[in-house]
Amino acid sequence: MKKRDTIEGYRRTTWIVHGPARTAKWDYAHHVVPPMTSSTTYRLESARRGAQGFQEYGALIRDRGKAPVYIYDRLDDPTRELLEGELAKLEGGDGCLTFASGMAAISAALAGLLQSGDEIIGHDLLYGCTHSLMTRWLPRLGISVRRADFTRPDSVARLINPRTRLLYYESPVNPTLDLVDIATIRRLCDAHNRLRPKERRLLSIIDNTFATPFCQRPLELGVDVVVHSLTKNIGGFGTEVGGALICGRELYPALKWFRKDFGGILASKSAWSILVYGLPTLPVRVKRQQYTALKVARFLRSSPRVETVRYPGLPDFPQRALATRQMRDFDGSFAPGNMIYFRLKKDNADPVRFINDLAKNAYSITLAVSLGHVKTLVEIPGSMTHSAYEGAGAIKDVDGVRLSIGLESPADIIRDLESSLERAARRGRR
Ligand SMILES: Cc1ncc(COP(=O)(O)O)c(C=O)c1O
Repeated sequence: MKKRDTIEGYRRTTWIVHGPARTAKWDYAHHVVPPMTSSTTYRLESARRGAQGFQEYGALIRDRGKAPVYIYDRLDDPTRELLEGELAKLEGGDGCLTFASGMAAISAALAGLLQSGDEIIGHDLLYGCTHSLMTRWLPRLGISVRRADFTRPDSVARLINPRTRLLYYESPVNPTLDLVDIATIRRLCDAHNRLRPKERRLLSIIDNTFATPFCQRPLELGVDVVVHSLTKNIGGFGTEVGGALICGRELYPALKWFRKDFGGILASKSAWSILVYGLPTLPVRVKRQQYTALKVARFLRSSPRVETVRYPGLPDFPQRALATRQMRDFDGSFAPGNMIYFRLKKDNADPVRFINDLAKNAYSITLAVSLGHVKTLVEIPGSMTHSAYEGAGAIKDVDGVRLSIGLESPADIIRDLESSLERAARRGRR
């Protein structure tokens, strides 16, 4: 037995700090559920091992069944890496990096790939904080941002110039559920890249939070980077905040170095919850939510209080053909997701009154931001998640209502919606 393996001769004061230096109890190969590791730093048997860890850092090392050289938690952590391996595989990418939040992943993807003097084109409508990142912060770093309607790719094409480095969009768009044709945007990039050097390639990034890899895998359609808020559908239970980016092998090292130095890693405890609870239940949750979402969308469309309903699963959804082509689950079935956006008839029911009534009286629906939760959540994006647009005039549907469908009985969600719609209308008439 080596000297470090025995505690003989050491005082209890020291022993209480170090415990058993080695133990056969760390036998992770036989765990059915992966262990939750939590170690800010890692023992290096020799200076050589430490140097090797730093040399290999950033390389895309696939799981070869033996542990890589771990050095320090901000660089790499086994639990986080297990989650990253799963997410990369599900999205069809080479590598994944997880972050402390969706916004940390989005800002890393942008700042890690761009430099001062670059220009990007973003879709007119994006999640409120992404809009704020583009209007408030990127210009301060010398990155200019133009906006275009990505549902009309020709309007994007018109803005591309030699300084344009990146196209950024969501599909489905939060909150309107407009869809962007991912393959068409890729073809637009290809046309420009034929004339560009490799290091100035025109890249595209999609925020795939609404769809999740279960409903849509944009890397397979030619996107360069997929970003996610893990806080939403993938985490699924509303207990963890996190983000991820998934990309191919060329972009991965630079983004990994960026994360090391900017430091916004996902806590390994959060990674563990997402890995053990969130990911494995994603298909069953989304399938059930889609089943309910279609029933709720149909009910809303039949209501005399409702002006318009947007849900890609409705047969008359304006971009139905694109939806059925692009949104496919792991088995190849149509997967329109769990988000609904609707507007009330102005002269019939007031949206604020309706929402307040839900907050007060509904049991199955909760007034709260966020989405992709086991509980059905409702909000008014114009004055809440997308309030960063206020004054900018780009969000046209300020009165729209966003509904994230949970796991409750469809009949109960409909019952609560119907009651609040009726009360909002009655009060409106008084
Ligand atoms: C589409 C989308 N992307 C990104 C984010 C940001 O995620 P996070 O809150 O985890 O930073 C959100 C948050 O609501 C979102 O809806």
